[in-house]
Amino acid sequence: MSDDKERTVELHYEGGVLKLPVFTGTEGESTIELKTLLGSTGMTTLDPGFGNTASCSSKITYIDGAAGILRYRGYPIEDLAVHSTFLETAYLVIYGELPEPGQLKEFSEKLRDNSDIPAEMGAFIDAMPRNGHPMTLIASAVNTLAAYYDDSVDPGDENQVELATIRLMAKLPTIAARIYRNSIGEAPIAPDTSLDYVDNFIRMTFGDKAPTGELGELFNKAVGMLLVLHADHELNCSTATVRVVGSSLADIYSSVSAGINALSGPSHGGANQAVLEMLEEIRDSGISIEDFLEKVKAREMRLMGFGHRVYKNFDPRSKEIKVLASQILDRHENPDELFALALKLEAAALQDSYFTERKLYPNVDFYTGVIYRTMGFPTNMFTVLFAIGRLPGWVAHFREQAVDPAFRIARPRQHYIGAAERRYPGQG
Ligand code: CMC
Repeated sequence: MSDDKERTVELHYEGGVLKLPVFTGTEGESTIELKTLLGSTGMTTLDPGFGNTASCSSKITYIDGAAGILRYRGYPIEDLAVHSTFLETAYLVIYGELPEPGQLKEFSEKLRDNSDIPAEMGAFIDAMPRNGHPMTLIASAVNTLAAYYDDSVDPGDENQVELATIRLMAKLPTIAARIYRNSIGEAPIAPDTSLDYVDNFIRMTFGDKAPTGELGELFNKAVGMLLVLHADHELNCSTATVRVVGSSLADIYSSVSAGINALSGPSHGGANQAVLEMLEEIRDSGISIEDFLEKVKAREMRLMGFGHRVYKNFDPRSKEIKVLASQILDRHENPDELFALALKLEAAALQDSYFTERKLYPNVDFYTGVIYRTMGFPTNMFTVLFAIGRLPGWVAHFREQAVDPAFRIARPRQHYIGAAERRYPGQG
């Protein structure tokens, strides 16, 4: 935030004129500071869904929705998707700079050394309903990390937050894989510290059934790239949730657990599951794409994987994912028929004025599910993969907030439209 007190806007209201400072962001965007509004005028602002409200200043991620730009710490997503790895990107997002080779090695070793979970925690995970949704189960498991590791729950102690950062990053794939294996009635597979982060997760999930050779390498590359593409997305619903919970000085495990729950909804991370279910429904019901789109336009349902609060041109992540999906499906011996259906659905929607007039384009979730399905992940694990990818972002925002001198407990106001004062029966 540039403290450009020279620029102001004037708010003319019944009681007078209030000058409000305008801050200029790194990319020239303007933000009006409203801190004095309530005290000076007695008025609040009403902004449903916070569509116009910046609740903090942040140095982590820049998005220009109109131009389809996404950058982590200044680096374009297109470069990171192709040239970086998930761990390098996670380091960048969390610590602010790309790591030197030695720093990356140290980070990676710390994650390997911490990848196991305590036996009691394994028993706790095994005791949860095995057919429960994995997002519910990982949120619960992550919450209990605060109980297993109460030496790292003080958000005011940077060393404790660092310890918790490593534990969260190291253990989330282990927790997720164990929950998946429980759901299919298979024994858990312990982390293999000789493997890299992504390979280890694939191995803990699929064991001997994990693809090997060229296809195995392609799957590793694809999962790595999808995690990079999901690593942060500034103040989306789940990250805002992590910040809100953290603003009460709750510990990082509780805050991330809350973020996982926020991610689970179909308007947010749950959309990748919803896209797959929608494609299956179109295929199984035999409805034509034209008739399906008519139902969407009649508001009987939404076209899942389309539209975005911020991107009103295209989602830069979806372009990378579409290329990845073609690569995988070209080389797979049983290409998924849902990919072909998704391509047709996208093409039909993009020729329809309902979608173009509302600037509705495919988002990050439109093709992600097709890729995960081809790899053998069940539909209800898709959002878990999103959570593993988004973890660096949640952690980075928690850490940034914890040391931000301007931060206050999150406490929005409301526009009250309920009953005026009235008397309790019998009280006059
Ligand atoms: N299908 C049909 N119509 C839509 C869709 C859609 N997917 N998305 C928005 N619209 C319409 C909406 O009905 C409204 O029309 P009108 O102006 O005539 O009332 C207009 O477009 C604006 O929609 P909105 O609901 O005001 O937009 P929003 O910014 O509040 O919602 C969204 C953004 C992502 C929740 C929404 O586009 C949506 O529900 N998309 C489908 C779910 C989805 O794919 N979510 C993943 C988002 S990207 C990953 C993530 O964030 O986790």
